[in-house]
Amino acid sequence: MQRYILAFDQGTTSSRSIVFDHEGKIIGQSQQEFRQILPTPGHVEHDPENIWRSQIETAKGAVAAAQIDIEQIAAIGVTNQRETTLLWEKATGKPVANAIVWQSRISTPICHQLSHDGYGATIRQKSGLVIDPYFAGTKIKYLLDSDPTLRRRAEAGELCFGTVDSFLLWRMTGGKLHVTDVTNASRTMLMNLHTLQWDPELLEILDVPAAILPEIRSSSEVYGMTDASLFGREIPIAGIAGDQQAATFGQTCFDVGSAKNTYGTGAFLLMNVGHKPVESDNNLLTTVGWKVGDQTTYCLEGSVFVAGAVVQWLRDGLGIIENSSAVEPLALTVPDNGGVYFVPAFVGLGAPYWDPRARGTIVGLTRGTTAGHIARAAIESMAYQTRDLVEAMQRDAGVPLAQLQVDGGAAVNDDLMQFQADLVKTKVRRPQVFETTALGAAYLAGLAVGYWDDFEALKRNWQLDREFAPSADDKEVEGLYSQWLRAVGRSRDWAQE
Ligand code: G3P
Repeated sequence: MQRYILAFDQGTTSSRSIVFDHEGKIIGQSQQEFRQILPTPGHVEHDPENIWRSQIETAKGAVAAAQIDIEQIAAIGVTNQRETTLLWEKATGKPVANAIVWQSRISTPICHQLSHDGYGATIRQKSGLVIDPYFAGTKIKYLLDSDPTLRRRAEAGELCFGTVDSFLLWRMTGGKLHVTDVTNASRTMLMNLHTLQWDPELLEILDVPAAILPEIRSSSEVYGMTDASLFGREIPIAGIAGDQQAATFGQTCFDVGSAKNTYGTGAFLLMNVGHKPVESDNNLLTTVGWKVGDQTTYCLEGSVFVAGAVVQWLRDGLGIIENSSAVEPLALTVPDNGGVYFVPAFVGLGAPYWDPRARGTIVGLTRGTTAGHIARAAIESMAYQTRDLVEAMQRDAGVPLAQLQVDGGAAVNDDLMQFQADLVKTKVRRPQVFETTALGAAYLAGLAVGYWDDFEALKRNWQLDREFAPSADDKEVEGLYSQWLRAVGRSRDWAQE
């Protein structure tokens, strides 16, 4: 009987599931967008039941699309939008609040207080993170501080906290497992990067009761079985990783210095730095890449909050395109950006600026500006933000990047990828399978159940689709980039909360 791996990829705007074969090829897939709840400016929530329902429906849809029998699934790997924070009742599995999404700035005041109280150095040294509302820890504190009943129940051990992976595993096993993996835990601001355990001092600083926390496991092991009622049989759940780490694994960035950039809702550049955590001098994050067996791999990460999401905004906010695929033809109606720069700081700026008060800014408008220029500036913002990350990464590494492997929705855009290569002055390489996030989760699960033997077997699956070589004039590129930096300056420190 032919066997396959099923990957769950629970992302920010959609849930998807993909069935992979032994060559890492896609056999069947299914995807569902779900509702974004935007209660106040800068705050984003998800309904946990939507997350759960859409994920399970797409899992069944992917198996149906693959035209295989559920018996043929050797294991499930789970990957997820990271940092998004959920609280649910231990007794019933019922969420006690909407999920606070990673993009939400709701805990900005808590972050200001932490910085003011001088915790920055301790938090960076222990967790590898900067103080920013992005991470789960201050979101948990926000939830518990805003409702004394929740805090009391949390302290009494009646509630569970989890990132999305943890919530899905709880539900998939009928409440038998309350676990997470090292990569997701490394985004909470509560895990010590050196011990890979919850850190008592960080828990105290953030006022988080230990009783609500999941157990931290590796990224590749059989955690447990799905409840038989879900798919009609028990299936081993054998891989977990946050989506950006999963993409790095799926891109087989196994060598120190190898790096990938994913253009999803946000953009995330991760570089493998080896088996010891490396502290950034340039405002990047230190994070766990994966733990397989006893070996932990660390990465430096640059996180950009709005990349592909800017196209959604052109569609849903500004209304200048009807669907996302219309952005490219619109951008191609003009030969260049016409001097327009668009900094999509809708929820502040992430790396390397870490400015929760920045807001979206379009500069350089003239009477001649058209919707085409705005679309073009929006697309170009993904490449400019990536250049910001590459600059910081190269300064930390002390050497230029040898190449950049790309994936995610916007990586299909050839013009954008060429512009990216010109802007970062390095080769940009796109693999044939660029659903690397789901693929990474499949690889982690497949390794744990012996579906793949080792990392070398995974490397053989990586096939080049297209390479983009830098070809633009250096002076011209630097001129454009300096304009971008001016535009970033205009967007900063705007919101007044
Ligand atoms: O840190 C947030 C990240 O995990 C979200 O990923 O793919 O949903 O943009 P994505």
